[in-house]
Amino acid sequence: MRILAVIGAFAIVIAIGAAVFFFGGYYNVAGTAEDPSIIHWALIQVRSASINRYADDVPPASINDPATVQAGAKVFSSLSCASCHGAPGVNWAKFSEGLHPDPPDLKEVVDHLTPSQLFWVVKNGINMTGMPSFALAGAKDDEIWSVVAFLKKLPNVKEADYKAWTAPPLRPAVPVLTPPPPAAAPASPAENK
Ligand code: HEC
Repeated sequence: MRILAVIGAFAIVIAIGAAVFFFGGYYNVAGTAEDPSIIHWALIQVRSASINRYADDVPPASINDPATVQAGAKVFSSLSCASCHGAPGVNWAKFSEGLHPDPPDLKEVVDHLTPSQLFWVVKNGINMTGMPSFALAGAKDDEIWSVVAFLKKLPNVKEADYKAWTAPPLRPAVPVLTPPPPAAAPASPAENK
């Protein structure tokens, strides 16, 4: 019995200590604060376990079609993924160096994630990191699947291909102005005779 009382007292002291540490402002929320390696390890385990559990959407049949991959490159570019993750021939935005955890180079992670897992991450985001939920940001499921199709091919996408796939549609260099319809010509005196 005495041992239980000691454990109970110990638990209360720890709970009070934790409350003082977190609510007393001692925990440092700075993005520059380094995570102890055990926390860093635990966060990665928790992230993978969670993605494994929740990612169960089935990819559409068109996931390997070149047209889907190319459409995905366009969506990837328009959703600004490259600002944080870079893209073939496109540099990360400078601010991405200030994110903590830092956004990974996607061509190094896409082979470790299934299409369903990639879909889930892009759709839902990763809480308490800089990775946004693109469903909350208004992207449709089929757009997100096209991004997944592109991500799966990303390690082999050449810079020139990415540039071509994401180029804006060709427009005439000079805007073509349609002339206004000619005003009704005043009746000539000759016709008025
Ligand atoms: C504002 C910055 C930002 C933008 C924009 C962003 N991401 Fe991320 N992304 C992150 C960060 C930060 C992480 C790392 C999260 C972590 O370590 O848990 C991440 C992680 C990921 C991961 C890896 C998840 C894993 O389990 O390893 C994928 C895949 C990903 N992002 C895809 C995308 C795609 C696709 C887009 C565009 C639709 C995008 N991201 C846009 C910041 C961003």
